[in-house]
Amino acid sequence: MPLLPILRFPDPRLKTVAAPVEKIDDSIRRLARDMAETMYEAPGIGLAATQVDVHLRVIVIDSSETRDQLLVLINPELEASEGVQVCEEGCLSVPGIFDKVERAQRVVVRYLDVQGKRQTVAAEGLLAVCLQHEMDHLEGRVFVEHLSQLKQTRIKAKLAKQSRITA
Ligand code: NI
Repeated sequence: MPLLPILRFPDPRLKTVAAPVEKIDDSIRRLARDMAETMYEAPGIGLAATQVDVHLRVIVIDSSETRDQLLVLINPELEASEGVQVCEEGCLSVPGIFDKVERAQRVVVRYLDVQGKRQTVAAEGLLAVCLQHEMDHLEGRVFVEHLSQLKQTRIKAKLAKQSRITA
């Protein structure tokens, strides 16, 4: 299976709002498999379809230490959230950048699995952060957009410098 190229911030395609998946078929299951493989290979703990330039509401997450607890969420919706936590986040689309972001401590998310069955996940801590981070991607938001304008400007400059070095 091919590894998918990951868009890098501030690529304007990362601002695209993803459309709901209408029908969960083999092409969606293939997309989810390729995204999972890309996430594990990177390595990362979450990836949204937006980041691989597919603008459908699909995310994959594995925040386990054993890397064997894959969650594929199709059309995820936040059902409830409470509390506040601040966690240092990173993103495969913003390589080498980590910063603190305020999120809800606990969330409940409804979604469809790859068989099209309705599922609910209740999460706290790292998994809750990861769910919020990936669902942000589907709305066209990257975590650095939660930071100050000054920090965002610095991050863009740093990434531009990186891409000149690696190009
Ligand atoms: Ni991300």
